Parts: sequence; C-alpha cells; structure tokens
Amino acid sequence: MIKKCLFPVAGYGTRFLPATKAMPKEMLPIVNKPLVQYGVEEAIEAGLTEIGLVTGRGKRAIADHFDVSYELEHQIAGTDKEKYLESIRNVMDKASFSMTRQKEMKGLGDAILNGQRLIGDEPFGVILSDDLCVTEGDGVLKQMVKLYNQFRCSIVAIQEIPLEKIHKFGVIAGEKIKDDLYQVKDMVEKPAAEDAPSNLAIIGRYILTPDIFDVIEDTPPGKNGEVQLTDALLKQAETGCVMAYKFKGRRFDCGSVEGFVEATNYVYENLYKE
Ligand code: UTP
Repeated sequence: MIKKCLFPVAGYGTRFLPATKAMPKEMLPIVNKPLVQYGVEEAIEAGLTEIGLVTGRGKRAIADHFDVSYELEHQIAGTDKEKYLESIRNVMDKASFSMTRQKEMKGLGDAILNGQRLIGDEPFGVILSDDLCVTEGDGVLKQMVKLYNQFRCSIVAIQEIPLEKIHKFGVIAGEKIKDDLYQVKDMVEKPAAEDAPSNLAIIGRYILTPDIFDVIEDTPPGKNGEVQLTDALLKQAETGCVMAYKFKGRRFDCGSVEGFVEATNYVYENLYKE
C-alpha cells in the first residue's frame, strides 16, 4: 500500500513575481485555500496520509500552514468563525507532515532525490501543487493508486496538449495498452514542437517506485542544467515499468498567471461554498 506523498515545493515561482518574492508560490490561494492544501487533500483522498515537503529558503509559511496556530484557535474558539478553519483542521487530523530541505534549486529530479530520507524504500506519490486538478469522481492521485495496485510500476499522469504549447512540458511516447494507458518508450523534456514524440504531456502527478532514487543519482544535469525527473524516468522505462495514464478530470496550470486566473474562476463558480 502506498502511504507517502512527496511535495516538491522548493521552486522560486519566478513567473509570479513580485507576489512570490517573500511568499511561497504554493501558498497562493485559489479563492480561499492555498494551492498546496488542495494538493494535500488530493493525497489524503488517495489514502496517502504521510506528507513529505521538500522545501527551500523562504518556504516557512507552508510548514506553518500545516501547524497548529494556538493564538488563532484560541481567538475564534466558540465563535461562528470556527467554520473557516474546518478544512485545514480536517487535513491536520488526517495527515502527518515531515520536511526536508533542497539546498540548491537543481531541478525536480534533485528535489525528489532530497525526499529520499522521508520516503525510504517504498513506492510513493508526488504532487506538484501548482498543477491543480479537479475531477468529478476519484481524484487524479486516487485514480493512479488504483492503477499502481494493478501494475506495480511507476506511473506519470498525462494530458493531450496542443503542439504549440508542448515545449513547456515533458512529453512521452509509448505503446498503447488501453484507451487511457501507455507503456512509456520515450520521454523528452520540453521539446520543440517539431521534435516532440507526441502530444501527450506529463503533468504534476506521479507514482514512483523507490528504485528511482538510484537512477536519479546517476542522472547528469539535463535541460537548463537541472537534474530532470524526465531523464531518470526514461532510464527507468528501459525496464518496461513506467506507465503513462491519461487521467480523468481537468488540470489548471496555476504556476502561470493565465492558468491561475482560470482556476480561480472555475473553483469560485463550481466548488466554492462559504
Ligand atoms: P517549476 O518549473 O514550476 O519552477 O517547478 P518554479 O521555480 O516553481 O516556478 P517558475 O518556473 O520559476 O515560475 C515545478 C515544481 O517543481 C518544484 C517547484 O516547487 C514546483 O512545484 N521544484 C522545481 C523544486 O522543488 N525544486 C527545483 O529545483 C525545481
């Protein structure tokens, strides 16, 4: 059973400057809830209640968000404002939190490798909380855990993306096993449209088997001088055990201003309840 979920939250969030100068990108709220809390709620729904945060400089607000605020609790105890704390209390009741620090921003692969001490030798989930996923039925990570229980392989979530935007993503090519499932044969990080092996882009949800740590350790820096998780996954795919899953649901790229505004409007119209 998968119990642990890693949240790499060390990035600088430069696309959101100046808002992210002193505040972590993951604390930006979609309506009234920070992005990272949406991610943690998705992990909990999938049964992954041991949350590991890979943080960096200036990310204290994330740790504080998942800690008890005695003053605040005391101040509003017994008042009609208590209802506003319900969702975060619920998260804190159900999940436990550990932290480790990525010393330098050396890429997503490096951030995951830093998480090894929190994960140990077991399969685990990864959520990039700037990708907000909304679904009608099971959350995306829960859909992936079901698949993991069937295949026992690393799984990446994918989405069809128009070719003119493909250069922003890791892209897979693979052998179709079912309508929504591929066995990965190739993977390229942020290819030019003419070099993209398909229009199937990797989004911020993964299930990884623990052998990925050794593979990352042997992965040299790739695109942009960063240790790319995509490169490590391609190596892991040589064993035939990396799947790509076209998830059911909708994803908003909240790391970009456009996606953030879209998500805000969507959540306000469809999910927000006072
Ligand atoms: P992004 O590519 O979105 O980078 O990282 P970023 O720094 O957060 O944002 P921009 O591009 O500067 O605006 C994808 C995810 O990987 C994490 C980020 O926190 C984000 O959740 N990450 C990336 C790390 O934790 N460490 C890294 O070295 C790189």
